[in-house]
Amino acid sequence: MSWKKPRLVFAVCIASCASILILSYFQRTKLSSASAPEIKLCRGIPATDTITPLRDNRTFIVAPYFDNRKDKMTRVISIVHHKEVEELYCWFCHSANGEIYVSKAEIDVHSDRFDFPYGTTDLKCLEPEDWEPRYVSIHWSSRGDIDQLPLFEIRNRDPEGSPVTFTVCISTMFGEYNNVLQFVQSMEMYKILGVDRVVIYKNSCSPLMEKVLDYYIAEGIVEIIPWPIDSYLKVSSYWHYSMDPKDIGYYGQITALNDCIYRNMHRSRYILLNDADEIILPGKYPDWNTMMQDLQEQHPEAGVFLFENHIFPTTMFTYKFNISSWNAIPGINILQHVLREPDQKHVVNPRKMIVDPKKVVQTSVHSVLQAYGVSVRVPMDVALAYHCRYPLQENLSRLLLIKDSTLWRYSMPLIGRVNKILRRIAWNTGEYE
Ligand SMILES: *[C@@H]1O[C@H](CO)[C@@H](O)[C@H](O)[C@H]1NC(C)=O
Ligand SMILES: *[C@@H]1O[C@H](CO)[C@@H](O)[C@H](O)[C@H]1NC(C)=O
Ligand SMILES: *[C@@H]1O[C@H](CO)[C@@H](O)[C@H](O)[C@H]1NC(C)=O
Repeated sequence: MSWKKPRLVFAVCIASCASILILSYFQRTKLSSASAPEIKLCRGIPATDTITPLRDNRTFIVAPYFDNRKDKMTRVISIVHHKEVEELYCWFCHSANGEIYVSKAEIDVHSDRFDFPYGTTDLKCLEPEDWEPRYVSIHWSSRGDIDQLPLFEIRNRDPEGSPVTFTVCISTMFGEYNNVLQFVQSMEMYKILGVDRVVIYKNSCSPLMEKVLDYYIAEGIVEIIPWPIDSYLKVSSYWHYSMDPKDIGYYGQITALNDCIYRNMHRSRYILLNDADEIILPGKYPDWNTMMQDLQEQHPEAGVFLFENHIFPTTMFTYKFNISSWNAIPGINILQHVLREPDQKHVVNPRKMIVDPKKVVQTSVHSVLQAYGVSVRVPMDVALAYHCRYPLQENLSRLLLIKDSTLWRYSMPLIGRVNKILRRIAWNTGEYE
């Protein structure tokens, strides 16, 4: 036995020395530096921002995602001018040998553009059949040089880790957002109902709100995606062009939602698409988990669950739960708003969604545009989207509002949790010292 060892060691040494020699030969000939060799091999300027403008100023790239649910393709979530961008190409780069493969993008502008000139767009590019590109650049031509173009890493190629169950995607926090009390209550309600992660596309918020977000980031619940869309486009605060004729609607909300779906496709079993002033509130279940187990069992083929949105106007108060220590905090105390507007004749209540991201292809705000599974309308007694905001039906007499105090079932844990958060965050008001 022992006499074999030296030979074995020798053989191993020969093999490894040879491979070191070969490797260093390749490094010297192909790479100028040993750091980040893949990027060096794939030329271009690595993109680091959430939104990257291309040189035409008409195309804005958010992120490319690998998607092989139908064809083997890269789907690039982006924002383009629906008329002025006619031709784009995906330049794929092989990270091991620098090989380039160019394919023409199908420019698929989402149908929900609401007349704005810019819309959420999928640039769909077929990938090479026999290798897995890790990087892509987008160019207006299939010829030329991509050295000076942004280079994007293709996400979702090798999903890692095990997914959480519930992620809430909050699209576009903007306008120096300062509705602190309502935000904290929403966050604590999401936690009570079973949220694992809240992803917020943040354009701007107040300094106090910043502290609150820092608290939740440290807690590990909140993930912030910077969303500086107004650096590139004139954004509307409204959803339709006719209400505010700008480049794109509602701070690019729909683009953020689509990016959130793909970004979390392999990280979360379910995604809730709602705003910070909305809570999908089960009436029949204590939490989302028990609710979704039942709903998914009843509708195994469903990928999208729609919840009726109901307005609880901020202008109508109940006197219960007027918590004096909260009065110094900017924002709305949702516990005082349990009266909801009645349905209007000829007006369909919009819906908010819980989706299985793996089954969604394109989403809008109140419905999906393309999906592999069916959509299910969840009856209102099972759950509704509690939406506490300025009334839609102004000047409605209190007598015509409907008392719906489902939220109060959670009042005890909610008040305790909110007090704890408010105490933890250093307030300047003197109230919480
Ligand atoms: C794109 O926008 C930048 C900054 O506003 C400007 O300097 C540049 O000239 C624009 N390029 C084109 C092709 O319009
Ligand atoms: C809540 O209580 C404060 C006093 O602590 C009072 O000024 C305010 O009017 C009350 N608001 C409501 C809606 O009950
Ligand atoms: C509500 O009342 C205000 C003041 O009386 C009025 O200006 C406004 O137009 C009313 N709104 C609606 C929707 O009727």
